[in-house]
Amino acid sequence: MSIQNVMVIGAGQMGSGIAQVCAQAGLNVKLNDMKQEAYDKGIATITKNLSRNVEKGRMTEDEKTAVLGRITASLDLKDAHDVDIVIEAAVENMAIKHSIFKTLDEVTPKHAILATNTSSLPITEIAAVTNRPEQVIGMHFMNPVPVMKLVEIIRGLATSDEVYKKVEEMTVQLSKTPVEVNDFPGFVSNRILMPMINEAIFTLQEGVATKEAIDDIMKMGMNHPMGPLELADFIGLDTCLYIMEVLHEGFGDSKYRPSPLLRQYVKAGWLGKKTGRGFYNYS
Ligand code: CAA
Repeated sequence: MSIQNVMVIGAGQMGSGIAQVCAQAGLNVKLNDMKQEAYDKGIATITKNLSRNVEKGRMTEDEKTAVLGRITASLDLKDAHDVDIVIEAAVENMAIKHSIFKTLDEVTPKHAILATNTSSLPITEIAAVTNRPEQVIGMHFMNPVPVMKLVEIIRGLATSDEVYKKVEEMTVQLSKTPVEVNDFPGFVSNRILMPMINEAIFTLQEGVATKEAIDDIMKMGMNHPMGPLELADFIGLDTCLYIMEVLHEGFGDSKYRPSPLLRQYVKAGWLGKKTGRGFYNYS
């Protein structure tokens, strides 16, 4: 059976982006959040992105209306009773994910695939609370979802080949490129990206160069679109710290210890772009 009906859980930055690309690919999307206001905010972001596509001549007004028409609000996980796949993009907290996946296992049809957009939590551990671990998989989209081509697809220990194949096909349908990885701390993307960001923070902490110099070197010298400190602000410093802690604990290797400066910024509430201040000022 091909995938036609999708539920996306979480209408935040990642969830709304995932809902947008699914609806643009012709899929019916239920965008679920606990609060109506969160859904409204998510839809406002999607509408803004689609309007930009219309302005740029990449989409007609009618197509925009059709895409929006394929997205409906959901405030109850039970609405997943008729979906083919759920993509969970809620908060990065194992207890919350366990509770969501337990409920999904009860309310979704037997054939439904349960995917998570987690950036670092083990897929195998999330799958373990369901009676269908072979149908649980990681679909790790990159931020900003409508722009970034990659979806890192993570196989849990029990994920079946058939489920992997379906998710791979769906990713191509979303005009994204699937890349297969196994379930190890940080997968591949964050195992490599986060230590680079962490090292940039150590470099700043040690006074080797200014933040601007560090970012310029990586932008102009390595052709990265954003410097590591600017990127850390974009991702959120709390998220960066959380992922470093997952790597540190998961591998038990001191090379993944988070920079004390990163911890200090998080404690100060300087979480990056979203709070108006991180390594840079956004107010
Ligand atoms: N939502 C939708 N579209 C967006 C967007 C957003 N949040 N941000 C930018 N865009 C669009 C712009 O509208 C613009 O589109 P047009 O073609 O219509 O002009 C296009 O992207 C380019 O944007 P800009 O010209 O404003 O700026 P830019 O060329 O510097 O690109 C960027 C912005 C795409 C974000 C680029 O800076 C970039 O690629 N940065 C690195 C992003 C990255 O590394 N992401 C991965 C983060 S890690 C992650 O997500 C995983 C994790 O688990 C932590």
